Amino acid sequence: MTATVEVEPGGEPLAPGGAFPEGFVWGAATASYQIEGAVREDGRGLSIWDTFSRTPGRVHAGHTGDVACDHYHRYVEDVALMAELGLTSYRYSIAWPRVQPDGTGPVNTRGLDFYDRLTDELIGKGIDPVVTLYHWDLPQTLQDRGGWTVRETAEAFAEYAAIVHARLGDRVGTWTTLNEPWCSAYLGHASGRHAPGIQDPAAAFRAVHHLLLGHGLAARALRSAGARSVSITLNPAAVFPLDPENAADAEAARIVDGLHNRIFLDPLLRGAYPDDMREHMTRFTDLSHIRDGDETIINVPIDVLGVNFYTPVYVSARPGEPAAPDNPGTEGIAFRAPVGPITDIGWQIEPAALTKLLDRLHADYGVPLLITENGAAYPDGPSADGEVHDADRIDYLDGHLRACLDAISHGVDLRGYFAWSLMDNFEWSEGYRMRFGLVHVDYTTQRRVPKDSAKWYREVIRRNGLDD
Ligand code: NOJ
Repeated sequence: MTATVEVEPGGEPLAPGGAFPEGFVWGAATASYQIEGAVREDGRGLSIWDTFSRTPGRVHAGHTGDVACDHYHRYVEDVALMAELGLTSYRYSIAWPRVQPDGTGPVNTRGLDFYDRLTDELIGKGIDPVVTLYHWDLPQTLQDRGGWTVRETAEAFAEYAAIVHARLGDRVGTWTTLNEPWCSAYLGHASGRHAPGIQDPAAAFRAVHHLLLGHGLAARALRSAGARSVSITLNPAAVFPLDPENAADAEAARIVDGLHNRIFLDPLLRGAYPDDMREHMTRFTDLSHIRDGDETIINVPIDVLGVNFYTPVYVSARPGEPAAPDNPGTEGIAFRAPVGPITDIGWQIEPAALTKLLDRLHADYGVPLLITENGAAYPDGPSADGEVHDADRIDYLDGHLRACLDAISHGVDLRGYFAWSLMDNFEWSEGYRMRFGLVHVDYTTQRRVPKDSAKWYREVIRRNGLDD
């Protein structure tokens, strides 16, 4: 028998195994505070990132999101860029302080109007909107009342979710409650590297719980309002013991896996915190903020789990090592400095770690998965020919997409992939110095230039697969 080679109409032959499943979602992602700017427009209230970025010493070079990519005014042009890329989906977030300037109470219609226009523009170009309700811009008024360390914020979040759904639910099918609650809890409240800049492990663990509770309450509200697909995006760590044969290293990896992964995944998908993490938390708080029935609320069924992946984590046991600021209670555990090729932000490149992570999530939790972020920062800019030649980003994306194909070939139910990010933007405490975009942004002129990676990605999407 002669083997036949599948050829797409007008396309080249695909490498065996190089094709993604039919209907695979191809997207790019952004977040409100990172791209919108217009922080004082149309009745928007202040968020914790406005406050944090204006506090000297918090963000590189004092950068703020005041203007960012000026997407608030340029969204039509930006959606046109997405259409040129051939994206089937776009993941964007809603700024809570645009919708409810004080986090609770009166709705600011002009804020919702913006997302209404953006959503219509996307649909008009055949791009499926994927909404994230919380990508870190908590209304400052709620922070002043305790932010995620108090239960009221979780309750307010559900109210806000219902308000946004009432306005966009007729057009938006996929709803993500939170983006990376690990970062909100630990970077925001343990190391203080992110807003609100608190350094108190007890606050971090209270935040973990109220973020999860907020997810559960919001997911219920969305479901009862008829949302088609409900999800949450985590940044699960691919954690490995430095020496897999060493029992102490394996134990270190188990603890870090608990703090990064199981403390979120188990209540979300199994209905209870793991015993070891309950015990871990009691070193810092009495757990009185966890009420009977909360874990059942958190365990509301989700349709898909969003996974943001960038880099692996290697840990080993090292007596005397102080706890890592982002990981409360990790005394005696050393986090290995990145080795091998790294990106501009210093993150190790290891696509195989993504395959292992997806395999593990599939095996342990059996939930459909979506890569909601993956990408790389490189210090690129236009060359003499006016183009941006970011071959290193293409390599990064290509490697990670192959890692996705590997996981799919192992039976992982992976539904799609969103590149981070559509365009260069405000990279939190790094300010604008880290460029993750497929599209280059000149922050002086706001000119957008699709990088070589954007053109490469367009081809991948068109072929629904990778070259040999
Ligand atoms: C995680 C976050 O969701 C996103 O906001 C950030 O810019 C990227 N990863 C890169 O750090």
